[in-house]
Amino acid sequence: MTHAEEHEGTRRDFLFYATAGAGAVATGAAAWTLINQMNPSADVQALSSIMVDISGVDTGTQLTVKWLGKPVFIRRRSPEEIEAGRAVDVSDLIDPVAQNANLTGQEPATDENRTLDEAGEWLVQIGVCTHLGCVPIGDGAGDFGGWFCPCHGSHYDTAGRIRRGPAPRNMDIPVASFVDDSTLQLG
Ligand code: FES
Repeated sequence: MTHAEEHEGTRRDFLFYATAGAGAVATGAAAWTLINQMNPSADVQALSSIMVDISGVDTGTQLTVKWLGKPVFIRRRSPEEIEAGRAVDVSDLIDPVAQNANLTGQEPATDENRTLDEAGEWLVQIGVCTHLGCVPIGDGAGDFGGWFCPCHGSHYDTAGRIRRGPAPRNMDIPVASFVDDSTLQLG
């Protein structure tokens, strides 16, 4: 091996180690981010209250945002969904309690007690099935036109109330309020 080739080899070795070193630094940073995200106080401090722009949510669609590590379904209900939700007799419900953090929590689960505005257009709920915590499928899914959790077959109606299947409770409604016509505050 000539001196030049030897030098080349050393250089290649150096580049190899430098790259490996950079990789190790990147991995370390990723691990730190993960650990930092798992620190509940940092998480709560950063996200205990968020603003959501709802100006792009069309009637009959929903926006899902992540808040405090959980999906939140923000649905702008169609007139048909509102009508279906309001036609339900509370005595027919599996869970007769509103589960609405904006109320005391013990009010009856009428459609009116589940929605954010008087017209019943906006339904905001934690998008987590109350059975074992899966994220239900939306957009009119299930036998009651609301949400459906396929893992064990829980059906929710257009107001997010459990109507059939193993889930014990209606989907939870978080603390939420309108800041203005196009902004919603969670928390
Ligand atoms: S988690 Fe939803 S039905 Fe089991």
